[in-house]
Amino acid sequence: MKALVLAGGSGTRLRPITHTSPKQLVPVANKPVLFYGLEATAATGITEVGIVVGDTQAEIQAAVGDGSAFGLRVTYLRQEAPLGLAHAVAIARDYLGEDDFVMYLGDNFIVGGIDDLVGRFTADRPAAQILLTQVPDPRQFGVAELDASGRVIGLEEKPQVPKSDLALVGVYLFTPAIHEAVAKLEPSSRGELEITDAIQGLIDAGHRVESTVISGYWKDTGNVTDMLEVNRLVLESLTPRVDGRVDAESELIGRVVVEPGAEVERSRIVGPVVIGAGTRILDSYVGPFTSIAAACTISHSEIEYSIVLPRASISGVRRIEASLIGHDVEITPAPATPRAHRLVLGDHSKVQIST
Ligand code: DAU
Repeated sequence: MKALVLAGGSGTRLRPITHTSPKQLVPVANKPVLFYGLEATAATGITEVGIVVGDTQAEIQAAVGDGSAFGLRVTYLRQEAPLGLAHAVAIARDYLGEDDFVMYLGDNFIVGGIDDLVGRFTADRPAAQILLTQVPDPRQFGVAELDASGRVIGLEEKPQVPKSDLALVGVYLFTPAIHEAVAKLEPSSRGELEITDAIQGLIDAGHRVESTVISGYWKDTGNVTDMLEVNRLVLESLTPRVDGRVDAESELIGRVVVEPGAEVERSRIVGPVVIGAGTRILDSYVGPFTSIAAACTISHSEIEYSIVLPRASISGVRRIEASLIGHDVEITPAPATPRAHRLVLGDHSKVQIST
């Protein structure tokens, strides 16, 4: 069995963060979301992984390398444009050969891994096995319709009038039967080859498609609130560890990770919090559910329930909450007069100012 991990696409939903880095590398508890998927794949015993990449191939490849860090053998499969999830399967046809495979969307996060799922699929071998989860607004997902016995009878991609609140989660298991269904597809109204349509094709051709309903699922929706929530969820199970330097005037409360080379001086950190390698926290308060990446500086500031990406610098800011701060961002106090905000914000930035 192989895995096909999708890490192409353009990623407009998490702008402006995704202007400069692929959405699959957005960190959750200081680790790219894609890595959780690769770890979950490795945990099933699968070793052969094809990663579908697009314009951001260089960044993905720099982060994942040959996969050996995960115990995987990674092959990069270039998709010339994000023409749909089924298009990604089509370009991987030769790589996949006659193997069964798990397809994992690189921007999805599934709590609890996929071992059980892969185990069940291998034992039962339906043509396809999909994962479903209840969502408040199914219109932005693929949506499944089940019969009374729970069997999948219909699938629709991003329907205006959803037939259920069961959304397709971004992990699919397939036998090679999927390739025939993919070969018959025509582009959808949004111009993509939809995997949802291919699975519908399997159902129409009389193949067995099984589903499992799960909870504990996250998908980027463009909503920073969701990202902060999944960050919170992962930090909940943090194992405390101090490999950096914490001075005697600082206080660490609860589960805190201080990575090597990080320095905490005259500060109070209330976990769960992770502080990345080489980051300096000076005369500051860092509150629960905060991930601060590597090489940041936080001085004379207070921050809580937030995600800070590498090399950001925050100084003299009274309180930051529920925020996502990008790479190399600088936040500094304005001169006392005139009392004004001075902003240099990238395209699609969002700022809430308390006056
Ligand atoms: O996340 C679950 C949803 O994923 C499902 O409910 C939908 O049925 C399914 O179509 C898909 O919907 P999205 O429109 O949200 O997919 P997105 O364009 O975000 O792509 C998902 C991942 O696949 C992402 O990591 C980018 C990658 N991708 C996407 C496309 C369209 C590729 O590598 N190549 C592609 O051509």
